[in-house]
Amino acid sequence: MAKRIDVNALNVYYSKFLAVEDISINIEPKSVTAFIGPSGCGKSTFLRTLNRMHEVIPGGRVEGEVLLDGDDLYGPGVDPVTVRSQIGMVFQRPNPFPTMSIKDNVLAGVKLNGKKISRSDADSLVEKSLRGANLWNEVKDRLDKPGSGLSGGQQQRLCIARTIAVKPDVILMDEPCSALDPISTLAIEDLINELKSDYTVVIVTHNMQQAARVSDKTAFFNIAGTGKPGKLIEYNDTAAIFSNPEQKATEDYVSGRFG
Ligand SMILES: Nc1ncnc2c1ncn2[C@@H]1O[C@H](COP(=O)(O)OP(=O)(O)O)[C@@H](O)[C@H]1O
Ligand SMILES: [Mg+2]
Repeated sequence: MAKRIDVNALNVYYSKFLAVEDISINIEPKSVTAFIGPSGCGKSTFLRTLNRMHEVIPGGRVEGEVLLDGDDLYGPGVDPVTVRSQIGMVFQRPNPFPTMSIKDNVLAGVKLNGKKISRSDADSLVEKSLRGANLWNEVKDRLDKPGSGLSGGQQQRLCIARTIAVKPDVILMDEPCSALDPISTLAIEDLINELKSDYTVVIVTHNMQQAARVSDKTAFFNIAGTGKPGKLIEYNDTAAIFSNPEQKATEDYVSGRFG
């Protein structure tokens, strides 16, 4: 649990288009790392390379290395399905299976991985995962009701419970609060803060206050212009990125002068 990620000289392509260029970054376990930067600079693209989801897009490929506690995720013989169970992903819009019960939603990822699980193990995993996602008390009396009956914020916590149930080492989140109201957003931020005691958490956010609130380290990405690749400009402790950045572009971005 909570493994480190080391990325070395990663280039990310959509067919011939180099979308993200030459990223090297070390992501610490048991911490929250935020990716910030203007729209189109490649945050989502780069995030998806960290669990081999980029390559499901036709033409999607990478050059370079992504190491999980030293093991190359792109090494020969590595099964991308296994990688995706070690490194889970939570998306912008909560995407529970709408007709599936809350309970089955929590178990969906586990079943997808082909794991056989007894009924009592399933019940305890559902409770543990929902507790881990700060959702148990709100849904414990309606586990057999459809996931679509929950509010947006509850649905996003359900998706986090589904991710946790697989027992990943790393949780990736791509703007997990962008479809949520402020109260639900704070609930997710509290949860992220708790998750870091067990997992490595990486969150893409366009909300700089959110990055400042939830993350220990912040990576600022930027793009020189349309059609140019996104690059990692600066990576440091979040406090340093927001109060004392080294690069002019970082300062302009965090002070709201562009993006
Ligand atoms: N499926 C795709 N096919 C081709 N190009 C894409 C695809 N998804 C994103 N891109 C391009 O990759 C670049 C980075 O996009 P993205 O990773 O979505 O940026 P961000 O998440 O920072 O807004 C953009 O130029 C975008 O148009
Ligand atoms: Mg994005």
